[in-house]
Amino acid sequence: MSKRLLKNSVVLAPSILSANFANLKKDIGLVEKAGAQWLHIDVMDGHFVPNLTIGPAVVKAIRPHSRLLFDVHLMIERPDHYWKQFHAAGADLITFHHEAPVNQRKLIRDMKRAGLKTGVSIKPDTPVSAIAGILPLVDLVLVMTVEPGFGGQKYRHDMVPKIQQLRAIIDRRKLACRLEVDGGITLETALIAVAAGADVLVAGNAVFAAANPASALKRIRKAIDKSLK
Ligand code: DX5
Ligand code: ZN
Repeated sequence: MSKRLLKNSVVLAPSILSANFANLKKDIGLVEKAGAQWLHIDVMDGHFVPNLTIGPAVVKAIRPHSRLLFDVHLMIERPDHYWKQFHAAGADLITFHHEAPVNQRKLIRDMKRAGLKTGVSIKPDTPVSAIAGILPLVDLVLVMTVEPGFGGQKYRHDMVPKIQQLRAIIDRRKLACRLEVDGGITLETALIAVAAGADVLVAGNAVFAAANPASALKRIRKAIDKSLK
């Protein structure tokens, strides 16, 4: 499983929140064939965020149809109560929110012992300083560039300094931690997030709401590769 965590270059993680739920298998196949490396799966519980989305049954149903790394973003109040179900369903990487009222070090330890990659996420109002201490323990840090809860929102440019701060900390401390940005990613904002230091980009609407999701994804990939040259 861990070989799915690619070490180099910027990873694209299309979010199935904006996919066709009546045809998930087809939509996932499209982005996989177009070169996505991860699949971002947004889990919401109606408490931590005002929306309900995907549960472990859906993850289990799509797992046999994809070889992508399943990047499960838990926007739920009690990640400690539910991570095992998502692990059993086929998650590779599970990200919880710093703002969730749980013992984070214990949660990370438990998930790691089970063989999972782990991530921690911060909402727009949470500063980087809140999670600086646990960065050495996680495989990924996720900066929300919209208020979590819904796809299709506008990228918050005021989050750029947080991405830059995290990139500086990760590089200075030589941490093996991916830096993911989620929310409002488009062809334009993808380049801004990458320039600030992101190395994993989530894109929901920009990919799945496009007339041709495969070419939308390829266009983002090309623009990023060009910007990194
Ligand atoms: C929002 C979710 C995002 C969402 C992104 O709470 O965490 O992953 O699917 O969607 P876009 O790319 O449309 O902003
Ligand atoms: Zn997400």
